[in-house]
Amino acid sequence: MSDLPPPVSDLPVLKLLNIESAYGPIKAIRGISLQVRRGEIAAVLGSNGAGKTTILKTISGIIDPRKGAIEFKGQDITAQDPSHIVQQGLSHVPEGREVFPLLSVRDNLLMGAYTRSDRDGVARDIETVYGYFPILRERATQDAGLLSGGQQQMLAISRALMANPDLILLDEPSLGLSPKLTKEIFEIVVRINRERGTTILLVEQNANMALNASDYGYVLENGRIVMEDTCARLREKDDIKEFYLGLKEEGVRSERRWKKKKTWR
Ligand SMILES: Nc1ncnc2c1ncn2[C@@H]1O[C@H](COP(=O)(O)OP(=O)(O)OP(=O)(O)O)[C@@H](O)[C@H]1O
Ligand SMILES: [Mg+2]
Repeated sequence: MSDLPPPVSDLPVLKLLNIESAYGPIKAIRGISLQVRRGEIAAVLGSNGAGKTTILKTISGIIDPRKGAIEFKGQDITAQDPSHIVQQGLSHVPEGREVFPLLSVRDNLLMGAYTRSDRDGVARDIETVYGYFPILRERATQDAGLLSGGQQQMLAISRALMANPDLILLDEPSLGLSPKLTKEIFEIVVRINRERGTTILLVEQNANMALNASDYGYVLENGRIVMEDTCARLREKDDIKEFYLGLKEEGVRSERRWKKKKTWR
């Protein structure tokens, strides 16, 4: 594995422009604009109900936005059919994995490749994902429903990779996993980005993991982006340290900061 930084280009592979999505009367996201550059890992951080899943569902066409536009590789994909969006090279690993429990691990992987006709490429990519997650090779013929939560997360990421995507949307890969397993999964996510050049947009409550793994980050609160920066800079911001990383500084000053109304920037 190379330690070289990924070839991040300034070209945005994904652009959201003023996206608004709602569930009936509930506005879940309110004017989201963000960009993901080709080759980078971008993260959206936010707590429960902030609107993270809604952003990803809107990008992949599961929810149609009320307002705004989404561009993928320079093409408008706003409110297009999810299957069409997958075919354009965008794969979504949903919250809670959603593997097919009664299909074998291998058949789950093949489902991820259903849009492809290059059988040799599919066989090669199965070997590649078995390389990332050897347990999936061991369990290849077992029903996916029998895998542990962490193994199902590995399978869900692998299934997304089987479409050979340019961009993967990852919804809370750490959900329900031990810190050790979370760390392992994030290490593989970074490897996938570095080795294959796959661009990744992930959403997370686990700010620590997400900020360490990602290049650029957005902070989401109540359906709005309240801060964005490189992850290196976000990690140094006092508000992020206090509210997301739980690193409160000692002393009176931080007590005051803690008490005062939260103000961003
Ligand atoms: N199917 C739905 N019907 C009605 N409201 C919904 C639905 N799904 C989400 N919401 C609401 O939309 C808002 C954003 O939800 P969303 O699932 O996007 O948040 P999230 O950031 O992914 O949260 P979590 O970290 O808990 O997964 C919340 O107020 C939520 O209650
Ligand atoms: Mg969610």
